[in-house]
Amino acid sequence: MCFIPGKMLKLVAGLLVGLVLALILGTYSSTGRRAQLRVSHGRDLTRPWPGKELSHIFWAVQVTDIHISKFLENERVSEFESFCTESLAIIQPALVLVTGDLTDGKTKDKLGSDQFEEEWQIYRSVLKKSQILKKTKWIDIRGNHDSFNIAHLGSTNNYYRKYSGWQKEGSFHYIHQTPFGNYSFICVDATLTPGPKRPYNFFGIIKKDQMQKLSTLAAESLHSNQSVWFGHYPTSTIVSSSPGIREVMSSAVAYMCGHLHTLGGLAPVLHSQHQQGTLELELGDWMKNRRYRIFVFDHDLFSFIDLRHDEWPAILITNPKSVLYTNPAVEPLKRIQHSTHIRVLVFSPDPIISVKVFIDGIELGDAENSSGPLYVLEWSAEAYITGLHEIKVQVKDAAERKQTRSHLFSLEDDVSVSFSLFSSLILLTDHYIVAQVLFIVIVLGQLLVLLVFRIRKKPKLRGPPGNFALASFSLHVLSKNSVFFYAIVLLTLFTAIGPWFIGEIIDGHMGACFAFGVIVGGHFLDGSLTYVVGITQMAFFNIPLTAYLCWCLLCRCKGHGFFSHLRHTKKIVCVPIHFFMFLLLIWQIYSCFFLLLTYGTLATFLSPMKLWLVVATLVLGRRVWVFNSPELRSYVTELKNCQST
Ligand SMILES: *[C@@H]1O[C@H](CO)[C@@H](O)[C@H](O)[C@H]1NC(C)=O
Ligand SMILES: *[C@@H]1O[C@H](CO)[C@@H](O)[C@H](O)[C@H]1NC(C)=O
Repeated sequence: MCFIPGKMLKLVAGLLVGLVLALILGTYSSTGRRAQLRVSHGRDLTRPWPGKELSHIFWAVQVTDIHISKFLENERVSEFESFCTESLAIIQPALVLVTGDLTDGKTKDKLGSDQFEEEWQIYRSVLKKSQILKKTKWIDIRGNHDSFNIAHLGSTNNYYRKYSGWQKEGSFHYIHQTPFGNYSFICVDATLTPGPKRPYNFFGIIKKDQMQKLSTLAAESLHSNQSVWFGHYPTSTIVSSSPGIREVMSSAVAYMCGHLHTLGGLAPVLHSQHQQGTLELELGDWMKNRRYRIFVFDHDLFSFIDLRHDEWPAILITNPKSVLYTNPAVEPLKRIQHSTHIRVLVFSPDPIISVKVFIDGIELGDAENSSGPLYVLEWSAEAYITGLHEIKVQVKDAAERKQTRSHLFSLEDDVSVSFSLFSSLILLTDHYIVAQVLFIVIVLGQLLVLLVFRIRKKPKLRGPPGNFALASFSLHVLSKNSVFFYAIVLLTLFTAIGPWFIGEIIDGHMGACFAFGVIVGGHFLDGSLTYVVGITQMAFFNIPLTAYLCWCLLCRCKGHGFFSHLRHTKKIVCVPIHFFMFLLLIWQIYSCFFLLLTYGTLATFLSPMKLWLVVATLVLGRRVWVFNSPELRSYVTELKNCQST
């Protein structure tokens, strides 16, 4: 093993990194995919063309992750109320999609979770005061927070049934009918039933029967002009059965969701596109970021804009639409070429003074109000038939508010624009599969190393040993000592297949949590976040613990006890090592505390992977310094002899 030259290792590592990068880029970049998606539409070449009338157009609003909390920030609610009464009165959407996490459902310490009727009553009172249910179609669905601690949908604490506007769980198909066409809205309900308390309620699940229902809904929606799918979870956080969540929604122009809250500011924009062409558009949360979205179908071309509450004027350019957000598989894009007018929706509380239009930096003139919020400016699309162009719109209103919006458009079929790699990685990776594979690899890797060192004969040390030889020596010592060997093997096996804890996963309902999933109330919920936790457990506890024991054993083999090694080893080496192990133990103790707050006292006491592990670690940590055996004495002699040669 030690004969592999460094150069060779570097080469292999370089090749591996290159391969992984190529795979990532190949999977996630959208260049090259668009050509493949080009579908010739009969509809492309038929009227209606976008012109100057407010016709063949409707718009709607999405808002997500409101998280009404009885403990935190009243402004979340007061501003949401002003959004419902004032903003929506200005926008006048045909419908509003509220994509989950209506309430926060977290306890005061922010770790535990429950359904609080008070939060739901607050939500209801906003709907009531704003009378929004009478003014528009209000479709509010459940998110993971709305399903915490709910044993079944009929439970009395499923307040969604009582206080929401829509009050229907499960996936459904809503058709918005207009004189110029029918538009399908399909809800993907991946919330868990039964709904465990947090944190093991982060990923959604679509089981086989729900998948069949979604396939049926998808088939129904083919009669509509366009369909939009929506749900709480991004597809990357849904554990779905075959044919897979992205495949089943492939006829949709877009899938709109929430849940990720801009990743705490890391990803202000999370938009991407499936291989099948469907746009995946995550919307930032209302909770902290006060985001909302206006989306529009204008002559069956889909456009949208993500906005912040109370930032006016809101500008949405619908023709020519943004090239980045095209779905050539379902949109009649040729209509842009045949259009006679540039079309822009503008919303503001005050009258609009001017709507200036620029293309490639050249001012084309002022768009005129057609009717309602629509502003139009005549153009000749032929002038832009090749290449990429930038359209920019500047709006000023009577209250001196100014806003500018711009995007790239193109009338060609093949243009290479793509979403950011980071967004695509977040939205298009099946994180639970990656985590599962990684977890299994780490577990098997550790077991294999221990096993190999247990079986192989320990080579005799010759001459003063280097660091590598000492590491290998200590692994031999650890693996050949049955107590330490079986303790570590048992720990890792338990991490992989044993129950981590048993307790009230839902109040009044016992369950058990494993790496591969959670069992509660006779239901099995597939593992997802559990694998991620399993990886951290392996990487930040099991493996460092093994390394720590190896190091302690090596000190023992040098003839030291606990106190003598402190005196004889360099402080700069041994202090950080003990301190690091101490931190890991603190982390493990904190996770017992976390378990106490999330799943209660019983779960904490019945937790082999938490409380019991803390105790076992202390026992092992003591034993490694006090045990004695003939082998140990022989190792001491061996090390002494080879150091003196
Ligand atoms: C919607 O579909 C119908 C039937 O195919 C078609 O007549 C109509 O023009 C379409 N609407 C739009 C806005 O394209
Ligand atoms: C919309 O659906 C209704 C009911 O299925 C149907 O009668 C109507 O013709 C459809 N409209 C268009 C424009 O396709």
